[in-house]
Amino acid sequence: MSGNGKSGSQNAWGDRIRALRNVPPVLKILWDSGPSVVTWGLSLRIVVAAMPWAIAGVASRIIEGVKQSVDHQPLQPHFAWLVGAEVALAIVFSALTRAIDYTDSLLADRYTHHVSIEVMRQAARLDLTTYEDPDFYDRLERARVQATDRLAMIQQMGRLFLQVLTTIIWSAQLVWYSPWLMLLLVVGVLPAFFGETHFAFLGYAKNFRQTPIKRVMDYLRQVGGSKEAAKELKLFNLSDYLTNRFAALSEQIYKENVDLSRRKLMWGGLLSLLGTCGYYGAYVFAIWEALHGKYNVGAFFLITTSIQQASGNLQQAFSTASGIADQALFLTDLIGFFELKPIVQSKPNALPAPKPIRRGFEFRNVSFAYPGTDRRVLKNFNFSIQPGQRVALIGENGQGKTTVVKLITRLYDPTEGQILLDGIDLREYSLDDLHREMGVIFQDFMRYEMTVRENIGVGQVEIPHSDAEIALAAEKSLAAEVVKKLPGGYDQMLGRRFVSGLDLSGGEWQRIALARAYLRDAQLLILDEPTAALDAKSELEVFERFAELTSGKMALLISHRFSTVRMADRIVVLAGGRLVEEGTHQQLLALGGQYAEMFEMQAASYR
Ligand SMILES: Nc1ncnc2c1ncn2[C@@H]1O[C@H](COP(=O)(O)OP(=O)(O)O)[C@@H](O)[C@H]1O
Ligand SMILES: [Mg+2]
Repeated sequence: MSGNGKSGSQNAWGDRIRALRNVPPVLKILWDSGPSVVTWGLSLRIVVAAMPWAIAGVASRIIEGVKQSVDHQPLQPHFAWLVGAEVALAIVFSALTRAIDYTDSLLADRYTHHVSIEVMRQAARLDLTTYEDPDFYDRLERARVQATDRLAMIQQMGRLFLQVLTTIIWSAQLVWYSPWLMLLLVVGVLPAFFGETHFAFLGYAKNFRQTPIKRVMDYLRQVGGSKEAAKELKLFNLSDYLTNRFAALSEQIYKENVDLSRRKLMWGGLLSLLGTCGYYGAYVFAIWEALHGKYNVGAFFLITTSIQQASGNLQQAFSTASGIADQALFLTDLIGFFELKPIVQSKPNALPAPKPIRRGFEFRNVSFAYPGTDRRVLKNFNFSIQPGQRVALIGENGQGKTTVVKLITRLYDPTEGQILLDGIDLREYSLDDLHREMGVIFQDFMRYEMTVRENIGVGQVEIPHSDAEIALAAEKSLAAEVVKKLPGGYDQMLGRRFVSGLDLSGGEWQRIALARAYLRDAQLLILDEPTAALDAKSELEVFERFAELTSGKMALLISHRFSTVRMADRIVVLAGGRLVEEGTHQQLLALGGQYAEMFEMQAASYR
């Protein structure tokens, strides 16, 4: 689906009607967030819709009674009961109205909760590819906002239900007296309805146009207040520059908003004037008929109340409905986001990952271009890694090493060729199961602003870990030394976002991240240059320790430093998307090719 904003008005009505398709899925989301609350809300509304009618019915009898008494006729024996019933009805009505507010507020909370969770779940399900698409970001952004910003819509739906019911009840009462009255009211209200929906659509188109601008603004605001940028902001004196850009964009948005509001004020006012005319037309008609002796006083009271209620509720129902149509337009992105399907996913009846892996992974003539690009990062790449083998994948920056990791972990699928695990295509296996067997620390690993324990524990969240297990993983990755120096130990909060949080150096973070891979009881461990922050000597230490700890296991070590991977069982040199050399350190040195040359060059630089 493309996220292009169609702002032309030729599509206006089509878009408007299409947006109403969002209403059923939203109703389903509402229902899913709290079936019992929804049921209560609807039942209460049915009762509440009928109550004003009952109250007015009783009132008309009271008025009739009073009139008879003024005319010197005896009061009816049940007159006192009528008054009592009127009071009781009013009390119950007010209590039920409050109960509706209560169920609404419960539903709003549940809805926010439910949708936020579903958005996170869906975001996690989607392909990595999706995240590289700027359109997707706009949509995700809108979906996020919509998750919580559309609460008004829920209240409006409840209100619409009530208004429609109320209108039906009063209209029935009116039509029972005279159908013409009803017709007058409808004709008066329709223009206002079309006016409302038209402006709702314009508002949506405007917001759609503004989303990219708002993203830029968010970015500016974020850079302006970020820790990472603070140094450069001061040195380059960038603050004013950023602030001015932000102000200009903000001004632009404000102007557009004001412009629309003005037009809405004028036209909306004019159109609602028509509704008022319809209402008073009906009113005058009723007075005229009453003066000609068609109804008694009680009936006249009931008719005028009906006109007032039917007209009021009808008008409100139309405006609520167009409000909902407006909100529904905004939900296009949320619903669209929920409808996105990941491409990389488990087949039905996918195979479980082999335990243990017997023959290992094999890339067979794999070519790969990132989605949306033509350049093949890997070209007929052939490569294998067997159980018990520690393979080092080396190559200069940008040769496609990380891409190999993304393919073996099925974050992407190859464009051509196959990746096999124990002789079977990777796509045949269950994705979750496959991921369970892999422990990967990427170059750009995450620094979770959580405690040390959590930072390590996320390496395998499926099961709880004892302190001893966490500590053992930390020992292996040399993170234990870092933890020893922290005042909070394993409960130390990391990062600067939260109170008492402590930031670590790049190398320290890297050790913590590495502990995650060790915690994981995976069959394949992958270390993708998480050492970028380290000098060659420290990288060598990390790799030697990794090699030592993974001895006899299947491990993939990735580096652009030829001088740090000699302890691997097999070294694979990647250049131009192809495997160019392969062998042990000694074999490759003896070969005197690219590896030997780069090794000599890089080893010399830190000797
Ligand atoms: N998400 C992406 N979209 C498009 N091109 C990418 C993406 N990620 C990496 N590339 C390109 O693919 C090539 C290989 O990248 P990568 O595998 O990260 O190299 P290495 O890990 O060897 O440094 C680079 O030219 C890089 O620009
Ligand atoms: Mg890389």
